[in-house]
Amino acid sequence: MIGDDALAPGVAGDADLQALAQQRVRAQWLRQELQRHAHQYYVLDDPLVPDAEYDRLFQELQALEALDPQRALADSPTQRVGGKALAQFASVRHVVPMLSIRTETDTTAAGALAFDLRVRRELGLAADDPAVEYVAEPKFDGLAMSLRYQDRVLVQAATRGDGESGEDVTRNIRTIEQIPLRLPCDAPALLEVRGEVYMRRDDFDALNRGQSAKIAAGAKGEKTFVNPRNAAAGAVRQLDPAIAAQRPLRFFAYGLGEVTAPEAGGPDFGTHYGMLQRLAGWGFPVCDWVALATGADALAAYHARIGATRATLGYDIDGVVYKLNRLDLQQRLGFVTREPRWAVAHKYPAQEQVTTVQAIDVQVGRTGKLTPVAKLAPVFVGGVTVTNATLHNEAEARRKDVRVGDSVVVRRAGDVIPEVVAVLPERRVAGAQPFAMPACCPVCGASAVREEGEADHRCSGGLFCSAQRKQAILHFAQRRAVEVDGLGDKLVEQLVDSGAVRTLPDLYRLGLAELAGLDRMADKSAGKLLDAIEKSKSTTLARFLFGLGIRHVGDATAKELARHFGSLDAIIQASEQQLEEVSEVGPVVARSLRTFFDQPHNREVLAQLRACGLHWSENAPAGAASRPLAGKTFVITGTLPTMGREQARELIEAAGAKVVGSVSKKTDYLLAGADAGGKLDKARALAVAVIDEDALKELIDGGT
Ligand code: IVH
Repeated sequence: MIGDDALAPGVAGDADLQALAQQRVRAQWLRQELQRHAHQYYVLDDPLVPDAEYDRLFQELQALEALDPQRALADSPTQRVGGKALAQFASVRHVVPMLSIRTETDTTAAGALAFDLRVRRELGLAADDPAVEYVAEPKFDGLAMSLRYQDRVLVQAATRGDGESGEDVTRNIRTIEQIPLRLPCDAPALLEVRGEVYMRRDDFDALNRGQSAKIAAGAKGEKTFVNPRNAAAGAVRQLDPAIAAQRPLRFFAYGLGEVTAPEAGGPDFGTHYGMLQRLAGWGFPVCDWVALATGADALAAYHARIGATRATLGYDIDGVVYKLNRLDLQQRLGFVTREPRWAVAHKYPAQEQVTTVQAIDVQVGRTGKLTPVAKLAPVFVGGVTVTNATLHNEAEARRKDVRVGDSVVVRRAGDVIPEVVAVLPERRVAGAQPFAMPACCPVCGASAVREEGEADHRCSGGLFCSAQRKQAILHFAQRRAVEVDGLGDKLVEQLVDSGAVRTLPDLYRLGLAELAGLDRMADKSAGKLLDAIEKSKSTTLARFLFGLGIRHVGDATAKELARHFGSLDAIIQASEQQLEEVSEVGPVVARSLRTFFDQPHNREVLAQLRACGLHWSENAPAGAASRPLAGKTFVITGTLPTMGREQARELIEAAGAKVVGSVSKKTDYLLAGADAGGKLDKARALAVAVIDEDALKELIDGGT
């Protein structure tokens, strides 16, 4: 039998053998080249060549390997794409068991202190001994994986299983581009790397969108996934590697299993941190947020810091992990029942919980928009108790197929409003009915309509609908509008329901007796409210305009309108064309303004509000002339001779331009002062106009 490394046996002539040898050299070079590019692309996020070039090299290698199938190598990048489906996974025994971590459930800083105290005690340290050095890492919410490299080639990937033995998922794991199939020659002969397979949240969302589309197109046996962890686990346990290959999986290395011992020529890492750096050097992805932390306070600070960035990490974590940095000390502490004494997981409040849908209400917004809202059995998630989750509109409620009585997964990440991410279909109660938008407004009974091309249903009742009236009043009274301090939703509810306030001007006709008669309203608080109403009469044109709640007119647009026209009457009289001269105003906004002012009852409301004493100062129209830099984008860098940067920003913004932080192709001008650095270089490279303070003044005064 001829060994693997010999050339093809048989009757081939010298010339054939030579050609074959050349092909093999080329194929080997391609494998290395592709591996290098894959590492740059998938691990370092810094590709060296365009995708098309990678594809070309890849195809060339595939063609060469097809000519020489005996030499198809397990570590070839072409092997990532999968092969035939399996009937089941083989079982793998972990030589070094895969441990779990003790969890510190106290999610406050005290959790970090408790761990440090315990470690110090177990190390026999006295109170005045120096602080202990740890490594702090995110606790990734994916699934644990052990990657075994023999002679620097990935030979096996196994799940954790029960910690003693797991499943052989090598073929699926090979499809993960971030995982090296071959290691550089300074890696030890035997190396088991442990880490987490996970899915990024954006990749997960895209995957689920694709799944929804397949289901909508009638595909059988497809489903959407509840969360990235679930989707990652499903992909890893796919019997068909071709399917696994299509799932966007990633990997972070955080530990070791079996490794060639230092006595046998293996590496002596010294510290956990040093070990992670070596792994990164060998091509493994190591999370950027991993940090050294000395002492309990540093651990607690890390917990807080990662907690604050959690929502923007791009992937799910459910806590952080602290590990003793020195490996000799780790060994000294050892472990109890599968949990090391030298590590702890310090949790965060869960961002997802399961609860049940008690009802689906339909709420009416200020502009009549009807929003289905799931009323939930109260559940503590993401640090607050959640009882409502918006379902946005009928299409969205149907897409998720949320029904009354369902068990659902509710997510609240960061400050994002809570949402129902999925229904647990296996827990659905018999007879649960799909959601349908009611034909009439649930508040006023007017018909609910959905315009062509719009996702939302709207109540057609206008200001006859008390729900819309309440919202309109709250909008008018809010801080960014005329601001009536203390006028909240409970009060508005009573005022509208009692009939005391039907229109905005009614607010300014309220008397003390009327207010004091309301629930939970004493003379004193009624007096305070009247003062606040009085105070709100003195306002600005922009606030007043914004407060009217004209569709598509937000506070920025209102400011622009006020600045441009100077007076309310000028705005009321402006044609659509004239309105469109205002920056921020396009045809849709102009149309909406005209529609509003053309309605006699709206003009009547305006007249009445003015008669009630609402006032603001009016100016001459500013027109376009005072905005010589409208639409331009500036970046400021360096020290300017006479102006501070803030001052320069105000000047530029007042001239109608935008100031942004970094130079790009879209930048029109770089305003540069002394000691300008990288931004200046970048501007020059991109041929962005560079100007100084004098040139800026000229631009503004010159009206260019
Ligand atoms: S270390 C000796 N580090 O948490 C401890 N585990 O209960 C071995 N996990 O399922 C694990 N992020 O998959 C470690 N930075 C991290 C981790 C991490 C997530 C998971 C791991 C395992 C569980 C341990």
